[in-house]
Amino acid sequence: PAHRAARGTDATVLVASNRGPVSYSLGDDGGLTSRRGGGGLVSGLSAIGSGADSLWVCSALGEGDREAVRRGVGEPGVLMLDIDEETHAAAYNGIANSVLWFVHHLLYQTPLEPVFDAEFRRQWEAYERYNRAFARALADRAAPGAAVLVQDYHLALVPGLLRDLRSDLRIGHFSHTPWAPVDYFRLLPDDIAAQLLRGLLGADRTCFLTRRWADAFGECAVRVLGPDALAGTRIGVHGLGADAEFLRERSHRPDVTERMAALREQIGPGRRAIVRVDRTELSKNIVRGLLAYRHLLRTRPEWRERVVHVAFAYPSRQDLAVYRDYTAEVARVAEAVNEEFATPGWTPVVLHVQDDFARSLAAYRLADVALVNPIRDGMNLVAKEIPVVSDAGCALVLSREAGAHEELGEYAITVNPYDVTGTADALHTALTLPEKDRTRRTEALARAATALPPARWFLDQLEALRA
Ligand code: G6P
Repeated sequence: PAHRAARGTDATVLVASNRGPVSYSLGDDGGLTSRRGGGGLVSGLSAIGSGADSLWVCSALGEGDREAVRRGVGEPGVLMLDIDEETHAAAYNGIANSVLWFVHHLLYQTPLEPVFDAEFRRQWEAYERYNRAFARALADRAAPGAAVLVQDYHLALVPGLLRDLRSDLRIGHFSHTPWAPVDYFRLLPDDIAAQLLRGLLGADRTCFLTRRWADAFGECAVRVLGPDALAGTRIGVHGLGADAEFLRERSHRPDVTERMAALREQIGPGRRAIVRVDRTELSKNIVRGLLAYRHLLRTRPEWRERVVHVAFAYPSRQDLAVYRDYTAEVARVAEAVNEEFATPGWTPVVLHVQDDFARSLAAYRLADVALVNPIRDGMNLVAKEIPVVSDAGCALVLSREAGAHEELGEYAITVNPYDVTGTADALHTALTLPEKDRTRRTEALARAATALPPARWFLDQLEALRA
């Protein structure tokens, strides 16, 4: 990596996030294998170059990470915090992924949930401890006046806590999720809602992926904390784009080309491919996507045997029962569609659950239609990546509730994610888009999608924070 290790207290740029840029797995023989992740932050941080000493503070997640911390194995420029397992589990599974994620993505089934009881309060205390551990580590390692970029809903209290420890620092926070509408946000107990907002407002700049999420945050702050709530904090919008250079190079390597051949075989000659790629995550709306596809096949029989729905749904957050149940539901509905329509030479839904980045890129390249229909999404980078690597042009069916819709909506076929028959109509429109129109739209989508590449996205935030 271009950034050097920060020793002692000399880091001038610090990033903090729950999931770090590297993870470790522990083999049966006791050996540790490291794996580097991708994403906007990784390429962003490497773009600051070797002139600055940077440090990425993250959490040890699995057994492998914890073992790596114990053995003192690590990467330069990365500090993994081994927060006790119980605290991490309560903060990450209990608060971050079962409460905050649900609030911002409107996922509660409100007649029965949420229930903010004693168990919730216990988890909340863990969330505070976990945020304090990050704030302390950052305070210990930051050079005077350093810039600290805190990421996401896992660490919402960190800006405020860090401000109390080190008033000299420039602190930014970035939410990669949507922000809830004020009436929904206020499902949270009043003291918790206020604490979360004050935590984020401890930052010099609080940033979001779209204007819509930024405005929702501003409205929450004023309604919950009063008219002067935003006085000390600037609100920023930075719409993370796709990394065109990386994607174009990566998607033409031999492992991707090989997987394209295998996928083509699964799809069958002459057939169209409707592609979706997601973490299997409740907000992604995979089940309604399958129901829309089923409706298309039921009502427009001319598509039978002429189209395949290639759905990559990679399991995520499987410690939580709701995510496991949703994963099972996706498989069940995919199976039901196949049972209803399959013929000897045609499998209508091809569902893959084994995470494989090269295969995702292969599907991006050959997709005729991309289905991106989340209930709500901070941005959704799949919608931005597909047009960039598409070989022959791809029609994008895009939820109006995805942050990406703000930039891509004009060239996409827009859907209300709850409207299954409407989504089926949109799939039909996408499948029948004249080739010239499809090419023109794909080019426009790719341009809009790459307007703010990850490196620029990161540097913009850093510059704005220092200004
Ligand atoms: C979203 C969040 C990220 C998170 C990612 C994967 O994109 O905004 O902060 O890292 O999901 O979820 P996970 O729980 O596996 O880290």
